[in-house]
Amino acid sequence: MASTRGLNRAAILAIAVAAILQLTAAQTTHTVGDALGWLVPPGGAVTYTVWAELQTFTVGDILVFNFGDGDQDVAKVTKEAFKTCNSTDPISLKTKSPANFTLDTIGEYYFIGTKDEHCKLGQKLAINVTSYPGPSPSPAPKGPSTYTVGEALGWFVPPGGSFFYETWAYDKSFKVGDTLVFNFINGTQDVAVVTESVYKNCTKNNTIAIYTTSPANITLETAGEHFFTTTYDRHCKLGQKLAINVTGSSTTSPPPSSPSSPSTFGPSAGGPAAPPISSAPSRFFHGCFFTSLLIAITFFHY
Ligand SMILES: *[C@@H]1O[C@H](CO)[C@@H](O)[C@H](O)[C@H]1NC(C)=O
Ligand SMILES: *[C@@H]1O[C@H](CO)[C@@H](O)[C@H](O)[C@H]1NC(C)=O
Ligand SMILES: *[C@@H]1O[C@H](CO)[C@@H](O)[C@H](O)[C@H]1NC(C)=O
Ligand SMILES: *[C@@H]1O[C@H](CO)[C@@H](O)[C@H](O)[C@H]1NC(C)=O
Ligand SMILES: *[C@@H]1O[C@H](CO)[C@@H](O)[C@H](O)[C@H]1NC(C)=O
Ligand SMILES: *[C@@H]1O[C@H](CO)[C@@H](O)[C@H](O)[C@H]1NC(C)=O
Ligand SMILES: *[C@@H]1O[C@H](CO)[C@@H](O)[C@H](O)[C@H]1NC(C)=O
Ligand SMILES: *[C@@H]1O[C@H](CO)[C@@H](O)[C@H](O)[C@H]1NC(C)=O
Repeated sequence: MASTRGLNRAAILAIAVAAILQLTAAQTTHTVGDALGWLVPPGGAVTYTVWAELQTFTVGDILVFNFGDGDQDVAKVTKEAFKTCNSTDPISLKTKSPANFTLDTIGEYYFIGTKDEHCKLGQKLAINVTSYPGPSPSPAPKGPSTYTVGEALGWFVPPGGSFFYETWAYDKSFKVGDTLVFNFINGTQDVAVVTESVYKNCTKNNTIAIYTTSPANITLETAGEHFFTTTYDRHCKLGQKLAINVTGSSTTSPPPSSPSSPSTFGPSAGGPAAPPISSAPSRFFHGCFFTSLLIAITFFHY
């Protein structure tokens, strides 16, 4: 009895601490366009579309628009006005940088630049806030992680060459037990697990394994270097290749207390292993990933 009560108290404390952590972790600041800021983007409107794809917007988050005062501004507008680039009568207009907007409800938000032809030239951003700060982010660091290769853009021949996947992998720390998810169009791509020399030379003989249907979920079972490419045509030479380093197990952290009962506390009576949540850790790397992606897009266009 006494131990049960003690456990309950520990449970309540744990939940309270988790709730506080969530509150502080909940409010993410999204700097629109990252280092590029808010301007007429070199690659056109797709630039901000791609940027938005790489974010997860949650109620309570803040959007920050950085721009040059006088040359730029930012207006929050309706969906109609967004589509037609109509800057008459916006919902709100901010002319001083940084312009901050708090995302206070679920739903779609639309922003445009009202100067000259800026909106028509691509200075426009649509985002979708789909979730409240939930209990999901905090248990993330525990179990194995799932990484979606190339994020929303998937597994394809990248416009900027192999640099694209190098950038994606940069700063991620892959652990034994983590899963890579390759998303691609069936019949136009595949995933080949290969040796280092095949990765380097893009020869097609000597593949270790081939996955032909999407999504290809590949669990990293051994530590060390892992190499991926594809058997299609010249795709490997054009940069559809990924090399990663995998270190020891992701389940190294032992449970801090309670050796007897495997966590009877907490409202989640559900499944054992937490679902893989890749967004929380990878969110931090989206910034530099996006910046490099912009460079890739720019190369592609000019
Ligand atoms: C632009 O929006 C204003 C205000 O909502 C509206 O009166 C006007 O007709 C719109 N212009 C165009 C070209 O759609
Ligand atoms: C807007 O957000 C930025 C970055 O979080 C912060 O430095 C700045 O003080 C904020 N400005 C206003 C007016 O809230
Ligand atoms: C925003 O998300 C909601 C719910 O997931 C979805 O129904 C809606 O189509 C999305 N809107 C856009 C513009 O993606
Ligand atoms: C790959 O290329 C390197 C030099 O670029 C060469 O030394 C090596 O033998 C090649 N390996 C294979 C398997 O062709
Ligand atoms: C793969 O092909 C390359 C050239 O086509 C050849 O040099 C190499 O020896 C081959 N490797 C294997 C393991 O067959
Ligand atoms: C690829 O094919 C598999 C097996 O036929 C199917 O389950 C999967 O949904 C397909 N994926 C896509 C992206 O079409
Ligand atoms: C592959 O991973 C994705 C993303 O985690 C998941 O939705 C899908 O069900 C998985 N598919 C298989 C066959 O495990
Ligand atoms: C993996 O790590 C080793 C040692 O740090 C390094 O030499 C190697 O280049 C790395 N390989 C990849 C694919 O990052």
